[in-house]
Amino acid sequence: MWWLLHFILGFIRLYLDGVKVLLYQLFNRSFTLPDLPKQNGKVAIVTGGARGIGYEISRHLVSLDMHVVIAGNDEQKGLATVKKIQEELNQGKAGVMLVPERRTEDGFELHFGLNYLGHFLLTVLLLDVLKKSGKPGKFSRIIIMSSASHYGGRLTLDDLQGRMCYSTHGAYAQSKLALLLFSYHLQNQLWVRGDPVTVNAVDPGMVDTALYDNLSSLAKLAKKPFAKLLFRTPAEGASTAIYSAAASELEGIGGLYLYNGRKTESSALSYDERLQSKMWKESCALVGLQQN
Ligand SMILES: NC(=O)c1ccc[n+]([C@@H]2O[C@H](COP(=O)([O-])OP(=O)(O)OC[C@H]3O[C@@H](n4cnc5c(N)ncnc54)[C@H](OP(=O)(O)O)[C@@H]3O)[C@@H](O)[C@H]2O)c1
Repeated sequence: MWWLLHFILGFIRLYLDGVKVLLYQLFNRSFTLPDLPKQNGKVAIVTGGARGIGYEISRHLVSLDMHVVIAGNDEQKGLATVKKIQEELNQGKAGVMLVPERRTEDGFELHFGLNYLGHFLLTVLLLDVLKKSGKPGKFSRIIIMSSASHYGGRLTLDDLQGRMCYSTHGAYAQSKLALLLFSYHLQNQLWVRGDPVTVNAVDPGMVDTALYDNLSSLAKLAKKPFAKLLFRTPAEGASTAIYSAAASELEGIGGLYLYNGRKTESSALSYDERLQSKMWKESCALVGLQQN
């Protein structure tokens, strides 16, 4: 019974968040990227950079003369993407949504492990390099790809892996909320120590990509006309992340949640500092990191 309620609520919350985003997209144009300064000599690591939004981010950052490292699932696909970008020529984005219950190789629930914990670990492991590479006026930038689905997200600290009660919708929303808690907590720590690194989180809107491949057949059918009319293209979905990575006006500015090129309020839960701190501790324990 409890399982059923959990499932239904997760489902309703995610779809309500989706409807709100679509209404917004119906009445508001996509953010147009301003001219961005060349990024010569800078290095970007884009997780999930081989397709979808991540691909568009990689492509655009290359055009700004950034050295882009595409971190992905499949080496051959990554190499093909590099070739494609080179021919055309001219950061955490990898993710899955609504995947039936599955575990990563390390035994984490897939949404939690891939969308959140993998990016948590990668970021923490890169922190020393990011701190050393940044300097006043040229901060290192961490950009976290969250989603409007975080608004309906709930964090079950004693069941992060959904072992007691699982819903794909709830798991996706939880992973996106966890990314925000991480993003704000990390920024606060960096500010306290005066490190030249900023962390901003981005919501790309609803974007027509392969992320929706795991919808049920019925939902896919229902999505089709909406996607054509109301979803953003991958290039439009990438614009706020590209802006966060390269805009001069965001130099030294962190701790934001950006949507459609603007600072926006994320959910009240995401600003809960006690929860942020508990989640940080739990995440360190899960990946075997010592806290500092
Ligand atoms: N599309 C939307 O409406 C929307 C809305 C809000 C937030 N987002 C977020 O935006 C991000 C990008 O999504 P998208 O829409 O561009 O989806 P997408 O086209 O499905 O791309 C997902 C990316 O994640 C990578 N990925 C998947 N499983 C992986 C794994 N096990 N290890 C490493 N990389 C893996 C994929 O790489 P491979 O191709 O190598 O598998 C792909 O590059 C996600 O974090 C998503 O949650 C999207």
